Amino acid sequence: MERLQKIMAQAGIASRRKCEEMILQGKVQVNGQTVTELGMKADPDQDVITVSGKPIKFEKKVYIMLNKPKGVITSASDPEGRKIVSDYLKGVKERVYPIGRLDYDTEGLLLLTNDGEFANLLSHPKYHVPKTYLATVKGVPHGTDLDKLRQGVMLEDGMTSPAEVEYRDVDPDSKESVISITIHEGRNRQVRRMFEAISHPVTRLKRITYGDLHLQNLKRGLYRHLTADEINSLKQMAKSAKPEGSHRKKS
Ligand code: URA
Repeated sequence: MERLQKIMAQAGIASRRKCEEMILQGKVQVNGQTVTELGMKADPDQDVITVSGKPIKFEKKVYIMLNKPKGVITSASDPEGRKIVSDYLKGVKERVYPIGRLDYDTEGLLLLTNDGEFANLLSHPKYHVPKTYLATVKGVPHGTDLDKLRQGVMLEDGMTSPAEVEYRDVDPDSKESVISITIHEGRNRQVRRMFEAISHPVTRLKRITYGDLHLQNLKRGLYRHLTADEINSLKQMAKSAKPEGSHRKKS
């Protein structure tokens, strides 16, 4: 017997939190009875569980790394008809959804899965695995500017946690430079806002790592399935990741 929201998340319906909301909204039935309170347990092998009238199915769990091109929306549909990430997942039969998001103009490593538990673990607001981005920025930030990013900068939604920041490339005429930045949080447009805070706006942004996963030579617009070792390693990393904010250096 397992909690209903856990069974639903395992079946890939949505994250556990979203499944709880569905239960509270009266969308879930067990053996014909609508459940509206959290805490109920069920047996996925014996009980008939339906969500909005449809019986839940246990699909094979899939874990995918996509090299998202820029100009693509990280969402299941787009009313404006722009390209969405699932346009790049031809051949994936399972209904997968992204873990976190990349902006429309950001490219690079995006994870997708139908394992709600895994998605929940990796996107839990309290724990964030490190993610590295290559940011092409206008001009060449001074070393003291990069130090500010390393220590934390004040954004509208508060101080950022310390980041690891390195120069990667500097344009010969100093018009732009490429900086790698590793952050441990997942705030909206965080990297772009951090560079805006030091007056070096980002012109191109690419995520190259997620935890210990690296894009390597995966071509833009292509995807691959993660290996069992990669999946386990990410789970371990998320479980041992420090709570957000604890990366702050003690002064
Ligand atoms: N930071 C950003 O600014 N954009 C992204 O897509 C991801 C991180």
